Amino acid sequence: MNIQTPTRVESQLTDKGYVPVYTTNVIEQPWDTYSATDHEVWRTLFARQQELLVGRASDEFLRNQREMGMSSQAIPKFEEINNSLRSATGWELIGVEGLLPELTFFEHLANRRFPVTWWIRRPDQLDYLSEPDLFHDLFGHVPLLMNPVFADYMAAYGRGGVKAHGIAERAREAATTVIDGVAHVDEAKALSLGSDALSNLTRLYWYTVEFGLIRQPDGLRIYGSGIVSSKGESIYSLESAAPNRIGFDLERIMRTRYRIDTYQKTYFVIDSYEQLMEATRPDFTPIYQNLSQLDSIPAGNVLDTDKVYQQGTGEGWLHDGDV
Ligand code: PHE
Ligand code: CO
Repeated sequence: MNIQTPTRVESQLTDKGYVPVYTTNVIEQPWDTYSATDHEVWRTLFARQQELLVGRASDEFLRNQREMGMSSQAIPKFEEINNSLRSATGWELIGVEGLLPELTFFEHLANRRFPVTWWIRRPDQLDYLSEPDLFHDLFGHVPLLMNPVFADYMAAYGRGGVKAHGIAERAREAATTVIDGVAHVDEAKALSLGSDALSNLTRLYWYTVEFGLIRQPDGLRIYGSGIVSSKGESIYSLESAAPNRIGFDLERIMRTRYRIDTYQKTYFVIDSYEQLMEATRPDFTPIYQNLSQLDSIPAGNVLDTDKVYQQGTGEGWLHDGDV
C-alpha cells in the first residue's frame, strides 16, 4: 500500500491526440479529500442513471446494486462496499490512480481484486470522458461482481489474461532473431505463434463486460458497464435502429474490431451469465492458434452465420476508426 496522497492519473493530450498513462500503485481511497463538487457529480450521475436503467439494465444488475448499499447520497466508501462484496463472492475493491498495465490488471482480476479509480470526473464531463473514472468503475462494474457466476467469469478472465500475456510474449521471442545485436521480428511468424492472443481476449472483454446485452424473458437488457455508466449509450444500445444486435458467439467476438470513440456498431447478446461461463471454460490456446489464420471482422459487419436480433441500419456510422 502506498500511504502518500494518491494522484489523479489521466490520459495526456499530445500532438498524437490523447495517449493513455499507466500506473501500478494500489492506494487507500482518500475519501475525506472528495470535494462537495465531487459528491455532487456522483449524486447527479447516480440519480440520472438509476432512473434511466429501470427496464433497461438487467434485473441482476439492478437488484445487486440495491443490495450493495450504493446510494446517491455521497460517493460510496470502498470499504463499505467491500463488506457486501467479500461475503457475496469473495471479491474486493482496490483503489487505483488510473489505467493499469495489462498484466497488472489481469493479475488483480485473477485474485478477485477489482481496481477502482479513486477520482471522479469533472462536472463538464458528465456525458463523456475517454477513460474510466470512479463512476464508471463503481457504478458500472461492481454490481455484477455480486453475482457468483459473473464473479467467477471475471476471475477466470484474469487467469486467461495472464496466460495469454505469456503466450504473446513467447510468440514474439520465438519470432525474433538478433543479427549483429539488432532484433528483427518476423511479424507473420509472431502472429501465427499467438502474438495476437491479447487482442482476441480484449475484444471478448469489450463485447461482454463493457458492452454486453442479455436476453431476459421480457426483452433485451444491458449488463455491460460501459453502457450502464453512459446516459446516451443506455438508450442507444437498446432503442436505436442503427446498431446490430447479434447472439453471443465466442470466436466471432474474438475476431471483431470495436469502437473506442463512438457508440458501438454491434452489440452481442448473451442468454445468461452461465452461457458466458460455459463458453469460456475451454482452453483458449488452440482457439488463438486457429484465429491467427483468420482476418479480423470490421465492427459493423453482419455474417451469414450470425444469429441476428437486429440488423442495424448503420445510420450515423463513421466509416473508419475501428480498432
Ligand atoms: N478459458 C480461457 C483460457 O484458457 C480463460 C478465460 C476464461 C478467458 C474466461 C476469458 C474468460 O484462456
Ligand atoms: Co470498464
